[in-house]
Amino acid sequence: MFEQNSKIVFNKRLAPEIFLLALESPEVVAEARPGQFVMIRVTPGIDPLLRRPFSICGTRGDDLFLILYKVVGRGTAIMSQTRAGEKLSVLGPLGTGFDLPKRDCNSVLVAGGIGVAPLIFLAQAIDAGKTAFLSGYRSENEILPLEQFGLDAMETLISTDDGTAGHHGFVTELLENHLAGFSEDPPLIFSCGPLPMLNRVAELALKRNIPCQVSLETSMACGLGACQGCAVRASSKENRTYFHVCQDGPVFDVQKLDWKAL
Ligand SMILES: Cc1cc2nc3c(=O)[nH]c(=O)nc-3n(C[C@H](O)[C@H](O)[C@H](O)COP(=O)(O)OP(=O)(O)OC[C@H]3O[C@@H](n4cnc5c(N)ncnc54)[C@H](O)[C@@H]3O)c2cc1C
Ligand code: FES
Repeated sequence: MFEQNSKIVFNKRLAPEIFLLALESPEVVAEARPGQFVMIRVTPGIDPLLRRPFSICGTRGDDLFLILYKVVGRGTAIMSQTRAGEKLSVLGPLGTGFDLPKRDCNSVLVAGGIGVAPLIFLAQAIDAGKTAFLSGYRSENEILPLEQFGLDAMETLISTDDGTAGHHGFVTELLENHLAGFSEDPPLIFSCGPLPMLNRVAELALKRNIPCQVSLETSMACGLGACQGCAVRASSKENRTYFHVCQDGPVFDVQKLDWKAL
């Protein structure tokens, strides 16, 4: 884990509220694993004071790592105004990563909106021929071009809530259809997105006892296990009451969480 000022190499808009940020850090690149995140201070000043957490969306070469982010509030709005050549204070890589599937395993990646970010990094690390990438968006103008991330060889399916592109409905319906194609040896599930979506993914996985890992995006103040702000309830089968998403996660096996309390 490093704390450093990383130079912005580019910060470009991919969709109306979505940006791709490339930061220079050979140290972060050398350590980063899919599912890990960094805490970024969005200005050199003290307002806003708290760093914001972002999944590592991939790496380029030996020295660049990528952050795919959506502008949702003050911090991300400030970040969207930053330019190449400026520096941002970065802490990371933090948290656990995904447990990667074995080479001959089928996998299905299920993303809701900006939840694609950690799954893009994961998709780049696993067997494209054995993987399907399902992503759901509210509307066509939010769709992120996965081919920009070198994922052309992978089966990709899209859903939109308003039916403007791909399947008209939820991405979890695409997952249900996909799983129905496997009477035995269903694919491992990896998912990230809004909580209602993750709840449904967990429900489908638990019903068929399919191994499933989810990346949670709870609010975080410190990212280091110090503030307790990211606590989520553990399943009653665990020998503890809470997990800290920043240290024990953000990636969890669905069996470990109390989904009724999330
Ligand atoms: C481990 C982790 C990885 C993440 N990875 C990414 C990523 O790759 N790309 C990305 O765009 N975002 C990611 N997020 C969410 C991101 O941290 C927040 O969107 C960001 O902190 C918002 O900062 P802000 O100052 O712009 O918004 P704020 O002003 O803090 O909040 C604006 C609005 O966004 C909501 N909000 C704030 N934080 C979150 C959150 N964590 N989840 C859902 N809603 C939130 C607030 O409730 C509020 O309504 C991740 C979060 C975590 C915990
Ligand atoms: S964010 Fe502070 S304990 Fe997890």
